[in-house]
Amino acid sequence: MRDFLRRLPKAELHLHIEGSLEPELMFSLAERNGVSLPYASVEEVRTAYDFSDLQSFLDLYYQGMSVLRTAEDFHDLAMDYFRRARAEGVVHVEMHFDPQAHLARGVGLPVIMEGLNLARRHAERELSLSSALIMAFLRDRPAEEAMSVLETAAPYWEMLDAVGLDSAEQGNPPAKFIEVYERARRLGIPRVAHAGEEGPADYIREALDLLDVCRIDHGVRCLEDPALVSRLRDEGVVLTVCPLSNVRLKVVERLEDHPLPKLLDAGLRLTLNSDDPAYFGGGMLANFEACTDAFGWSKEVFIQLAGTAIEAAFISQERRLELRRQLAHAH
Ligand code: HPA
Ligand code: ZN
Repeated sequence: MRDFLRRLPKAELHLHIEGSLEPELMFSLAERNGVSLPYASVEEVRTAYDFSDLQSFLDLYYQGMSVLRTAEDFHDLAMDYFRRARAEGVVHVEMHFDPQAHLARGVGLPVIMEGLNLARRHAERELSLSSALIMAFLRDRPAEEAMSVLETAAPYWEMLDAVGLDSAEQGNPPAKFIEVYERARRLGIPRVAHAGEEGPADYIREALDLLDVCRIDHGVRCLEDPALVSRLRDEGVVLTVCPLSNVRLKVVERLEDHPLPKLLDAGLRLTLNSDDPAYFGGGMLANFEACTDAFGWSKEVFIQLAGTAIEAAFISQERRLELRRQLAHAH
């Protein structure tokens, strides 16, 4: 089973590239840039990653990314992740990035985009790994700030595969970002949003109705609203589920308690993802392996999940056909 899960061509649709920053790279970038860290060692960093909820994680996540200053840093961050992911059998990565968290530290969009795009080209050439870019807005910051980031990103609109919405969910409903998402829609940029991770099922409904998103990130709390579950099934809305993230952020107590089997039984279209692999105890393969341990799923279930990710990915039809072919040979 483990060999099969490694070989399975996995497309990752929900990853925060800043959340792929391993403590080792954090230390080496801190040294390169003369940034001081509140940790004495790599072990101390890992010990600090004991979260009680989403906010307690976000505090360390924003602190950790303070070592990212130059285009080279963003390149090294992404390339480091792409290499690890490829070794786990990942064939495609859709990465969220958080411009506002960098702009606040004086690091501009040109620096971020130069570094990430260079890494994407290297990954394509050297690893045969395709990727997509999702520019995320921080929902706990004012909507006006998100709108200004979207306008500032004009030189890059064509490179964005989607915009997304992340950070602290409770009290920051999708409705807050109606104008920003309407602007993205008119620009022809696809839209996704985190909803129903810590926030209520109603936020999922709002993301669909008010933000016109094509996928929901997380969405696990939809089960609290049976009518919403029926709608998600009927409309074929894809949920990008992050099992180890949900355990680490105490959305569920143990993976065995995770709603994944219920979501599958309800006929929903699901994908498995790592979210913030450096913070939540592992990448794509660790998430797939944890699910086989917790739920005892057959190969067919994993093939179904991997297939949904290929169908819902922001890729060319040519690349989709290639990944379908790879999946058909994965047994
Ligand atoms: N949830 C919300 N915002 C985030 C996350 C997450 O898991 N990771 C990075 N930003
Ligand atoms: Zn996320």
